[in-house]
This record gives sequence, C-alpha cells and structure tokens, in this order.
Amino acid sequence: MASHVASLRGWHPALARAEISALLPHTKLVRLASRRLVRLEGEPTLSQMQAAVDCSSGCQALLLDAIVWEHDADTSAFIEQMKSYLEAYPRSGSVAVRPMKHEGKMAGVSSRDLARKIGGILSSQEYSIDLESPEHRIGLVLDASAGIIACGWMVGSGDDSDGITSRRATDRPFFKPVSLDPRLARLAVNMASGPRDKGATLDLMTGTGGFVLEAALSGRETYGVDLDPLMIEGAQQNLDWAMPDSDAQILLGDATRLPHVIPSDAHHRICGFVLDPPYGRNSQGSLDHAELIRSVLESTRMVAASNADLVLILPIHPFGELPDEALEPDASVELLHGKWDDIQSTFTATGWRINNRWVEHVHASLGRLILHATIVPQD
Ligand SMILES: C[S@@+](CC[C@H](N)C(=O)[O-])C[C@H]1O[C@@H](n2cnc3c(N)ncnc32)[C@H](O)[C@@H]1O
Repeated sequence: MASHVASLRGWHPALARAEISALLPHTKLVRLASRRLVRLEGEPTLSQMQAAVDCSSGCQALLLDAIVWEHDADTSAFIEQMKSYLEAYPRSGSVAVRPMKHEGKMAGVSSRDLARKIGGILSSQEYSIDLESPEHRIGLVLDASAGIIACGWMVGSGDDSDGITSRRATDRPFFKPVSLDPRLARLAVNMASGPRDKGATLDLMTGTGGFVLEAALSGRETYGVDLDPLMIEGAQQNLDWAMPDSDAQILLGDATRLPHVIPSDAHHRICGFVLDPPYGRNSQGSLDHAELIRSVLESTRMVAASNADLVLILPIHPFGELPDEALEPDASVELLHGKWDDIQSTFTATGWRINNRWVEHVHASLGRLILHATIVPQD
C-alpha cells in the first residue's frame, strides 16, 4: 500500500521534520532522498493530518497515498501511474492541480506541462476543474535536489493557513531586537507542544510575545510569563493586535517560581514549554545564565504534565549552516553565555532528557542552538 508523504518548506528542513514528527507523534517518519520529502509510516487519521498541517510552520502539505516517481525525465510512465491513481482514489467535487517546486527547477521537466497533463486526465474522468476554490487539490511536488516527483491528493492547501511564512516580528506594534521570527517561534511551539489537543503551552520568558502569539494563533491553550512589566504590556499589545479575542494569558511573574504565577487549574497540564532566555545580563542579577536556566527547569517540574516537552533556544558563536540534520549527540557548541557542558548537566540534574539539538545561522557573528527535551518521569 502506498504511504502518505509530507512536503516540507522553509529555511531549515531538519527542524521542519522534527516539527511534523511532534505533530504526528504516533507516526514514524522516513526521510526520502530529498531533505524536503518524508514518508509517513503508520496510520494517522485524516483529522490528525489536517490538524497537523493547519498549525505547522514547516509542512506545506501532505500527499495522500502518494506516487513517488524517482526515475527519469521521461514522465510518460508517471502520467500513466497518475491515471491509475485517480481511478484507485476517486473524489467527488471540484478539483485543481497545485504544483510546488523544491530546490529550484528540475532539469527537463516542466511543472506546468505535468499539471496540464494531470488536468487533462481529471477532465477525461469527468472531474470539474476549479482553479480558484477547488474542493480537492492534487499536490504535484517537483524536487530538483533528488529528481523526485511526488504527487497525490493534498491535505492542506500548499499555502500557510494563517500567513506564518509572510508575517514578520517587525510588523507588530511592540518590537524589540530580541523578538523571534514567527516561523521559528511556530516551529518551536509545535515541537514542544505536539498535537493541539495534548495540553497547554507555556512561554517561560515571553518578552515581546513571539511564542505566545504563535501558540495562541495555532489554537492552543496558551500562557506566557515575564518578569518585566514593560514586556508584559508590549506582549499583550501584540497579542491584541494579532488575535483580538484570544484568551491566552500573559502573566507578570518569575519563571523560577511558576506555581505562584500559573493559575492553579493549569498546574500539571502544561505539556509544551518554550524558553528563550535573556541574552546578556539577566534581570535576576543574582543568578548567572546556567543558574537561571537551572532554576527555571526546576520550576517547570511543578506545573508540567507527565508527558511534557520543552524547546530551549540559546545564542551560540557562529557554527555555519546545518539545515539538513540535527547535531551529533556529542557535538560541542560554543554558547555565547556559559558552557554547553553546564547546560547539559543542568538538564540531567533537573529531570529533563535532551532528545536533539539543531543549529541555525543568524548572522556573521551569531548562531542559534535549538534544543528539544522531554521530561523524565519522577519516582
Ligand atoms: C530573550 S527575551 C525573550 C524574547 C521573546 N522570545 C520574544 O519573542 O520577544 C528574554 C525575556 O526573559 C525575561 N526574563 C528574564 N528573567 C526572567 C525570569 N526569571 N522570569 C520570567 N521572565 C524573565 C526578560 O524580561 C526578557 O523579556
């Protein structure tokens, strides 16, 4: 039986793979020859897949029971397969073909030509074509890096549902240089929180509200905490601007004392923590960087659900581009503040297991480490 294939977008395919994996936790993902195509192994339901694509930053579409064509530029046999596919998986209602390109132009293959041919098959099978607002779409992905064509009925429209990829932090009423890019913020929220119905999301150090906005906009129960009243006011302004009727709660308080800050009815229901700590001297003058992270991690345990995950973002010295894979488990990184070994032992000491780390390039003198951890059950 054919399997479903996820088509990934964005600047960091490895993070996009981690995100879709978190959003579909019971599905094994197998990377194809392309870094932007993954096969789903398992049987996610249609509604689980729809929910995952709807809130994802890095997954542009899922192709159901997809044809994966890896042969050559002669696409006539692919078109024959498409005929059989459409007979095997018929739909009722209007349709359109949605071509998508990965990594440039595929030599010798025209997406427009292929889309036209598939459109011809659809017409000959009595489908009504509606390019504006079809009830169903056939996704046609041409991946130039691996010479793969992947095609099938789509879950998702191929565009992002609420404009994550075009939103910018600078568009908001309250902006500071620390504000996170919405695409990264959404990835981190999804990696930490998993499927939307798993539980609540808590942004431990909200700042201008980068994570809070993305968690709220993706329909999650959302909390944000910050020590600084100016940040609380600004983050609330941003939230009111992005989502006027949101019931996300932005709370003034100390992330090292969470049980005093988070409403008691949310205790033990927080399943996704996101943490972007201060870069320079922190507002708690008495704690150095590693100690602050240690106190915050200790505090998370008091309000965490038993299956909670956490994503931490840390500034690092430039590492270069590494968008295709996670770091090797023993790879050493040079943090801007403090030592990696201290952070690693802090996670172990506070009962969090580090699953994976990724790096991204920010500019010539700054990189970012993105770390995903899972809470370790206590005795
Ligand atoms: C790097 S900024 C967060 C930026 C944020 N991700 C954004 O998109 O704007 C770090 C924030 O941590 C807050 N902070 C520092 N110590 C804190 C603590 N103990 N509890 C809660 N917030 C704290 C600072 O006030 C600052 O707003």
